[in-house]
Amino acid sequence: MKFFLDTANLDELDRALAWGIIDGVTTNPTLIAKEGIAMCEQLRRICERTDGDVSAPVISSVSRDMVHEGRELASLHGNIVIKVPMTEEGIKAVSALRSDGIRTNVTLCFTAAQALIAAKSGAYFVSPFFARVEDAGGSGQQLIEDIARIYSAHGFATQILAASLRSREHVEQAAKAGAHIATLPFKLMESLFRHPLTAQGIEQFASDYSKVFDPVKA
Ligand code: G3P
Repeated sequence: MKFFLDTANLDELDRALAWGIIDGVTTNPTLIAKEGIAMCEQLRRICERTDGDVSAPVISSVSRDMVHEGRELASLHGNIVIKVPMTEEGIKAVSALRSDGIRTNVTLCFTAAQALIAAKSGAYFVSPFFARVEDAGGSGQQLIEDIARIYSAHGFATQILAASLRSREHVEQAAKAGAHIATLPFKLMESLFRHPLTAQGIEQFASDYSKVFDPVKA
């Protein structure tokens, strides 16, 4: 499974890239707005930092305008994937952009039927929103399992990019369910490294070792 970082913040991105396990970046209008820098400029800066795919959101709601935005965003860098909402207009735009050879990420997906439409339209990624499904009383894991089963049964190439992940359990469940990619906010990604027993074990190892081979005295 690939890890993408869900951020438009360059400091977070630099820190995460240093781990060597980040395969790409996703952004959305909320994340871009938080940085307060024009979208094209911020996306350019992100693309300079990573060799992975970078999802860039359209803002328009009408397919003609989405296509225009998508072409403009795609011209920024070859790694840009155009993020389009799961709407009728969005799917029309996906089909048009695909004809241009531009990859798309169909976002705000909440049902397997929506994911089926995204795959039929030739989307490169589909982004089921795990936690928001759970917020609404559903099962994020079940949604991704259903999508993975449908895609496998029908040979769809669209990749499942699990989004809206807010806990370690969400990440684990998305991975078990067959998501190809998980996109995580920086703080969640950072927390995945940690466990109290790991810290305790490191301390014990160091203590036991230094009792015999104290580096200070050596
Ligand atoms: O990529 C989508 C993600 O940023 C949304 O997460 O926690 O607002 O549902 P959340």
